[in-house]
Amino acid sequence: METILNVKNVSKTYQGAGQLLTVLNDVNFSVEAGSTVSIVGPSGSGKTTLLGLCAGLDRSSKGSVELNNIKLDQLSEDERAQVRNRYVGFIFQNFQLLPTLTALENVMVPLELRGEKNVRARSMALLDKVGLHNRMHHYPAQLSGGEQQRVSLARAFANNPKILFADEPTGNLDVETSDKVIKLLFDLNQEAGTTLIIVTHNLELASQTKRIIRIKGGHLVADELN
Ligand SMILES: Nc1ncnc2c1ncn2[C@@H]1O[C@H](COP(=O)(O)OP(=O)(O)O)[C@@H](O)[C@H]1O
Ligand SMILES: [Mg+2]
Repeated sequence: METILNVKNVSKTYQGAGQLLTVLNDVNFSVEAGSTVSIVGPSGSGKTTLLGLCAGLDRSSKGSVELNNIKLDQLSEDERAQVRNRYVGFIFQNFQLLPTLTALENVMVPLELRGEKNVRARSMALLDKVGLHNRMHHYPAQLSGGEQQRVSLARAFANNPKILFADEPTGNLDVETSDKVIKLLFDLNQEAGTTLIIVTHNLELASQTKRIIRIKGGHLVADELN
């Protein structure tokens, strides 16, 4: 089995108001390519920080993070951006769509930045798949939360990422809309065989991943199969 993510003895410390704050403390786990993992834990326990380190958005204070066999710790900001661009997809709680672009343009932009071909047709096919064929030319502000999150699903999968990180993807959605977005997420994921790492409070969502990692006070306190 191929390991796509290897987190070894990772700690993260922030310097603030004259004191050191240890937010993650000696965290260890690895993830097989193609598997699905939930990271759960109380608010403030370090989940978003951990996701950011795994995805190469930030660097650990101690330990190492290896993504797709690339050691992120030794890379510059620019090199990490290249790794993210090539291998990593993101879904955020607050969608993070560009407000001045239509749904279609939001999906197209990352593909265009990568110099891909058939960008428009591929983006339209993905928006169609998430049920937004009649919303392609609408701006984010004209879309409901659930529709915006479906645009961001299309955007995330358009890049064919090897690994997809989702931070509270249903956190801003009502139950009914959440269930729809969750189903789409797992359908798209099944089709693409992407590795999925999800931070969530949503037990319905966590129950659908193969594995659950629990974080408490910056420590990994449980790592169990579902
Ligand atoms: N840039 C930062 N500087 C200082 N402290 C931070 C920073 N980012 C997060 N923290 C602190 O780290 C802890 C964990 O935050 P976070 O990873 O966002 O937790 P979670 O996602 O589990 O709610 C919190 O106490 C938070 O205040
Ligand atoms: Mg968080």
